[in-house]
Amino acid sequence: MQKYILAIDHGTTSTRAVLFDKAANVVEIAQKETTISYPHPGWVEQDANEIWLACLAVMSEVILKSKISPEQVAAIGISNQRETSVLWDALTGLPVSPAIVWQSKQTKSICDGWKKKGYEDIVKAKTGLRIDPYFSASKIRFIFDQNADVYEKAKKGEVLFGTMDSWIVWKLSGSLTHITDVSNASRTLLFNIHTLSWDDELLEMFDIPKCILPEVKPTSYAYCKTASYHFFGQEVPICCVVGDQQAALFGQGCFGAGGIKNTYGTGGFMLMNTGKRIVESKNGLLSTVAWQIGDQVDYALEGSIFVSGSLMKWLRDQMQLFENTKDTQAMAESVENTNGVYIVPAFVGLGAPYWDDACQASILGLTFGANKNHIVRAALESMAYQSKDVLEAMRQDSQIEITSMKVDGGACANDFLLQFQSDLLQMPVQRFKTNELTALGAAYLAGLSCGYWTKDELGVELSKEFVPEKSKEEMDSLYSNWKKAVKTCQSYK
Ligand code: G3P
Repeated sequence: MQKYILAIDHGTTSTRAVLFDKAANVVEIAQKETTISYPHPGWVEQDANEIWLACLAVMSEVILKSKISPEQVAAIGISNQRETSVLWDALTGLPVSPAIVWQSKQTKSICDGWKKKGYEDIVKAKTGLRIDPYFSASKIRFIFDQNADVYEKAKKGEVLFGTMDSWIVWKLSGSLTHITDVSNASRTLLFNIHTLSWDDELLEMFDIPKCILPEVKPTSYAYCKTASYHFFGQEVPICCVVGDQQAALFGQGCFGAGGIKNTYGTGGFMLMNTGKRIVESKNGLLSTVAWQIGDQVDYALEGSIFVSGSLMKWLRDQMQLFENTKDTQAMAESVENTNGVYIVPAFVGLGAPYWDDACQASILGLTFGANKNHIVRAALESMAYQSKDVLEAMRQDSQIEITSMKVDGGACANDFLLQFQSDLLQMPVQRFKTNELTALGAAYLAGLSCGYWTKDELGVELSKEFVPEKSKEEMDSLYSNWKKAVKTCQSYK
């Protein structure tokens, strides 16, 4: 009987189920969008139950559409948006509040308070991160501060915490298994990336009871099985849980130190594998766990950009500049340049390398000559400029010469973006045959754990290379205007 690996790729805006065969071909895909709420300026929330139901729906759909028998699924691998946090009642399984999304700034004052107490250095030394609303700890604290009852129950272990991986696995296992993996744990601000365990000192500083936390396991690991009533009567092993950016790093085949990838997703995420070494950033990057396979742990340097593809979504849904994101390539190419327009998409402040949570998004350089094509072009260019900001930081921190850039994520279908990125970085930018690199990473890690694949069988093919067509002088001058635009936004508070 031919077997398959099923990947659940739960991202911020949608959840996908992707079925892979032994040759790592995508056999079938199902996808469901997730609602995102913005209840107050800077707040970003989701309904964890909706996410769970989306997982169930796409898993069923992919099996039914592919016409394979559920018994043919050898294992499930899960990749997920990271940091987004939910607390739920251990008895009823109901979330106690909306999930607080990684992009949300609603916990800024909690973070400011922690910084005032002088926690920054110890947090950075232990977690590789910085005190910022991006990570889970302040989100948990926020929920406790809003609801004293939840905090009291949490202290008794009656409330559980999870990033989306823990939540999905707990549900899929029939409320039996409360786990996470090292890659997701390393994004909570509670996990010591040196000892690879929850850190008691940090938990005490943030006043978070340890009993709410999931058990931390390797990334490629047989965690548990699906409850049969959730998967067509089958108990299928769940053999990987991984943060989506680390999954894409693995899916792109960046297995060794120096391997680097750039993803244009809801946000933008550049990660470099640093092998067994934890590289401490001096330029606004994060040190994080890439994955653990058996006893071997790989670390990564990461530049997290808060807004990348979600800028295009905003231009489509709120500004109605186009109906379909696919139209943006032609719109950008229909004009020679942005006519002096720059967009700094600081909708939730700026992440790497600026880390300015008070900065606000702006469109600069408008004249009566500007039209919607210039704005769309400026939006796409802002994705490339932000990636260059991060790449420069990565060069300095890693001291590794970066000579080409492999890319993935929804916006990679846009040739204009990748050509502009190549011109700006003055290096080849390479796109893959498949754009399902995140799902593939989760599938590969699951397949390794259950013996479906061996390490030398893993690989992925490139499809197109974009090489620089514009001069360094021309691109440097555009980039220096971008830097000015960022400075201008940062000074407006
Ligand atoms: O850290 C947040 C990140 O994991 C979100 O990923 O794919 O939803 O942009 P994505």
